[in-house]
Amino acid sequence: MSIIKILDPKLANMIAAGEVVDRPASVIKELIENAIDAKSTAISVEVFDMGMKKMVVTDDGIGMDKEDAHLAFQRHATSKIKDEIDLNHIHTLGFRGEALAAISSVSKISLKTRQKDGFGFEVIYHGGHFVEEKTASLNVGTIIEVEDLFYNTPARFKYIKSDFAEKQAIIDIFDRLALANPKIRMKLSMDDKLIKETYGNGDFYLLIDQIYGQQITKNMTIVHDSIQKMNLSCYLISPQISRSKRKDISIFVNGRYIKNYVLTQAVIEGYHSYMMINKYPIAFIHIDMDPQLIDVNVHPQKYEVKFVNESVLAYTLTTLIQKGLNKKSHPIPDQKVIKLEEEKPIYVQPSFTFEETKLILEDSSKHDKQNNPKIPEFDYIGIFSGTYLLFQNQDGLFLMDQHAAMERIRYEHYFKALGNPTHTVKQHIVSYQPTLTRHDFLRIEHYQKELEKMGYYFNKELELTGIPTWLREDEIELSLQTIVSMLEEQKGIDLSILRDHLAKDISCKGSIRANQHINRKEVDALVSALRRCENPYTCPHGRPTLIKLSHYEIEKMFKRVL
Ligand SMILES: Nc1ncnc2c1ncn2[C@@H]1O[C@H](COP(=O)(O)OP(=O)(O)OP(=O)(O)O)[C@@H](O)[C@H]1O
Ligand SMILES: [Mg+2]
Repeated sequence: MSIIKILDPKLANMIAAGEVVDRPASVIKELIENAIDAKSTAISVEVFDMGMKKMVVTDDGIGMDKEDAHLAFQRHATSKIKDEIDLNHIHTLGFRGEALAAISSVSKISLKTRQKDGFGFEVIYHGGHFVEEKTASLNVGTIIEVEDLFYNTPARFKYIKSDFAEKQAIIDIFDRLALANPKIRMKLSMDDKLIKETYGNGDFYLLIDQIYGQQITKNMTIVHDSIQKMNLSCYLISPQISRSKRKDISIFVNGRYIKNYVLTQAVIEGYHSYMMINKYPIAFIHIDMDPQLIDVNVHPQKYEVKFVNESVLAYTLTTLIQKGLNKKSHPIPDQKVIKLEEEKPIYVQPSFTFEETKLILEDSSKHDKQNNPKIPEFDYIGIFSGTYLLFQNQDGLFLMDQHAAMERIRYEHYFKALGNPTHTVKQHIVSYQPTLTRHDFLRIEHYQKELEKMGYYFNKELELTGIPTWLREDEIELSLQTIVSMLEEQKGIDLSILRDHLAKDISCKGSIRANQHINRKEVDALVSALRRCENPYTCPHGRPTLIKLSHYEIEKMFKRVL
């Protein structure tokens, strides 16, 4: 007897729904995309209880007739493609005819719709079953209300993360779709509180302002180019604002937000000389091109897109970004010849400035001189290549990478300062607005209590009113950027990880600062500060600070010994 059975369509829908609908944010994504495909000019999104209670998406698009309103809930029912030829010329965001079937199978859904010259009506489905149909009064367009998501598939609840994480995910999706559609007016509210609103007047500069906040667009570089019938527009946020993940590099192709590793790398490459290691820029890349040259049908969520001419595109993008950024003046040092007292020209590759670190060196020399036995006593003999300090003793020759050493010293200084729970708070007389995105401010608002414990105080307007005493004023921005990206990654504050990240970031800050030369007194201060480090042998990123060439090794090189 055969044991294989064709699944009941309802059950098949519920299983398939797992791919399309895994959390409230994916419902929002599908509904907004449908509204965009319906040629809407204004879309409003209302979310209640992080979407688990209710989500309402209202549009002013073309609407549906009665027959289509029912067909829309059938699997593989779509108005967007008819045959294979269409599949190669996709102009819409949706085309699989799966989203509404999937959403309706795991929720209670009402669809109200009205076409131009038609009457309004409403259809209701619960768990994929038809419940009711009635007349309704509404403007031309469609209103979809999704209630009690996953009410019939409780197992899926366990994938729902924290309230905050779900809200963030919804905001992320909204942001992307809003950024991809400068001509559509979009509005997002959560539990009746307006979160974001865009004007829909086609002005992309203004749109970034509305989504990310005005702080971010300061100093933005805009460049355009076209190659092989492709038009490229890059909106490049100043490299002084950096992120610890690449997710704020947004690429849009023909109004669709996409993911593409090669192009993302191309953007990072374009910013390369302006960014610290492990830091990524915020950038928006719009590409308009013939839809035949891309393949969107590679991933169920339709993010991953492949290009026919990927490498040409990547190369063009990198050079365009480099050119754009080079035109603006960023604090990038020129390698400059500096005369030392001994009249020896040296080239200093700056990774710190002595002015900045003097304070730390002074501070560290106040403590008991407790030399680290790991670093031997030796005499300074000079500097090689502007970077390596040379020392000698009876055992051999030592080379110290001054930048790596300085990073280690700064790192340990901040690591200790950050771990000290009894720090006092420095009050600002004038409150100060840090350069952060709207998203970042939401995070700060959420974690305000924890931040206070660390010494960061914010007022109701989320202006900074107090900072920890150990923090220098010119390090405020950097430390806040580190904190918010940490909150983004960890979904919470883990003090020990934060300490490490923050100390690393602050210590390697200034890696693109102006040249400074190091004099004899400073060499001594550097060496004695390094001696006081817990782990003097490597910089916080693991590069060595000190290398030894023993007498024996040197003699071997000269073949004096075998
Ligand atoms: N807001 C809307 N306004 C007008 N028509 C809509 C709207 N939402 C859905 N539809 C109609 O319902 C159909 C089914 O929508 P659904 O989202 O399930 O599939 P799709 O958008 O065609 O493909 P995908 O599964 O890739 O999203 C659409 O093809 C469209 O004709
Ligand atoms: Mg759709």
